[in-house]
Amino acid sequence: MAAALIAVGLVVIAVVASIRARMLRKAPGASASTSGSNSPLEWSADDEFKIDGIEYACRPVSDLFPSTGERFCLRKPREEVERYASFLAEHQSDSIFELGIYDGGSTALIAQLAEPSKLIAVDITAPRNPGLKRFIAQRGLDTSVRPFWEVDQADGARLVRIVEDELGSNPLDLVIDDASHLLEPTRDSFETLFPRLAPGGIYVIEDWSWAHAPQGTWPDTPALTTLIFELVVAAAHSPAAVAELTIDGGWCAAERGPADLEPSGFSLAQLCGERGRLLLAGKDGVAAGRTTELSGG
Ligand SMILES: C[S@@+](CC[C@H](N)C(=O)[O-])C[C@H]1O[C@@H](n2cnc3c(N)ncnc32)[C@H](O)[C@@H]1O
Repeated sequence: MAAALIAVGLVVIAVVASIRARMLRKAPGASASTSGSNSPLEWSADDEFKIDGIEYACRPVSDLFPSTGERFCLRKPREEVERYASFLAEHQSDSIFELGIYDGGSTALIAQLAEPSKLIAVDITAPRNPGLKRFIAQRGLDTSVRPFWEVDQADGARLVRIVEDELGSNPLDLVIDDASHLLEPTRDSFETLFPRLAPGGIYVIEDWSWAHAPQGTWPDTPALTTLIFELVVAAAHSPAAVAELTIDGGWCAAERGPADLEPSGFSLAQLCGERGRLLLAGKDGVAAGRTTELSGG
């Protein structure tokens, strides 16, 4: 099993390297700076900026504060904020689904940067304070910015009801998952929402690489990396479904291809093919005794 997972890892490294090379030509947003004169972000410090009079403070978990309608606590570092500004400038997205609102900072940021007709956002908790509600009311965004609280990202039926109530049969352009970062719920919402993207739409998974942090995070929790392996195999076996992947640090963006994807019962495993499923199960080459192992410390 360990040997096969290592083999998957080697495949991932090879495929990712080539996919990333392709994507970096197409998507300069992955690392481009938005501190130039055309950027809407007005930085006053390395972790503080304004957009059109609304203040944002980038804060690590240890230094959070309650958001107001005019000043938001954002759980993203500066480079992630700049990545979003570039990405949203490049990928015009009119209907967006965000998983993981926290205190509304990212929802307000996406609303200001993308100005979508519809921004649906969900979180498993109740609202922590009225900051986002005030922002929406003060800016007259009640019909376009739509937060839903106490919604579990793993509850596919609920996500579908929300999408259908808000968009009817229209597809999504962009999904951003910054919610649980756990394997099963993240895969659940991927399988619910990915087939509801328009062809060319993008599904972003943030912070997938926590299991590989040097300090060792959540050692007893299944790594989200497995979902990224599945996406790499799906992109190789079913490129009409998963057309492109960008993997850059903890950021993964999967572009939906033109294939007809039936949303009910959609599964990522189906996109991986028999060989891919064997590989992901650690059984590739086992019958022939040909598994490979990465040696070294
Ligand atoms: C990292 S925070 C989001 C930060 C926010 N996007 C930002 O940049 O400021 C993760 C959020 O996901 C929510 N969350 C955790 N598990 C969830 C689940 N199963 N379904 C929906 N939301 C979840 C948490 O309540 C938390 O507010």
